[in-house]
Amino acid sequence: MSDDPEPSPAPALEWRGAFTNDELNALHAEGFGHRLLHDDWLAQVQRHSLGWVCVRQSGRLAGFVNVAWDGGVHAFVLDTVVAEPLRRQGIARAMVAEAVRQAKAQGREWLHVDFDPHLRDFYFDACGFRPTDAGVIQLRG
Ligand SMILES: CC(C)(COP(=O)(O)OP(=O)(O)OC[C@H]1O[C@@H](n2cnc3c(N)ncnc32)[C@H](O)[C@@H]1OP(=O)(O)O)[C@@H](O)C(=O)NCCC(=O)NCCS
Repeated sequence: MSDDPEPSPAPALEWRGAFTNDELNALHAEGFGHRLLHDDWLAQVQRHSLGWVCVRQSGRLAGFVNVAWDGGVHAFVLDTVVAEPLRRQGIARAMVAEAVRQAKAQGREWLHVDFDPHLRDFYFDACGFRPTDAGVIQLRG
């Protein structure tokens, strides 16, 4: 008999998976390093998103990607986050691949993303985005 602990089950990935505002607010605060907020994510994604991807491990929300939508051919990857202990295992890459698959299947033509420079390898190499010119204006300090 082995004394090895039971291996953790593989993370389960789901398009438009169920989540609660409390668990996503906690994951977002941990992932992006800000104080715990009480945003109504459920209302936001149901109203404004093409969809979203949830990853759960052992029942816990461990990853999330939001795919916002203009109502037409453009969709936007936002809020990509994976719980710290589960990073560098390909979870975010798999979530973005699912977002690409779903957006394509629903007839969208363009999937956009913007990100900080240290994530170039992730979005360009691991996820297949190609560089483009883009711009942004901060509307509120
Ligand atoms: C960015 C983030 C979502 C990546 O999640 P992840 O599950 O660890 O990513 P993956 O394991 O799928 O990474 C695939 C590849 O992308 C690259 N990559 C991933 N994270 C990286 C990082 N922080 N810096 C540089 N390259 C990175 C690597 O090449 C990696 O392959 P490797 O592990 O074999 O080297 C995660 O680090 C995170 O939640 N960060 C905090 C929130 C954040 O900044 N989100 C981005 C919003 S735009």
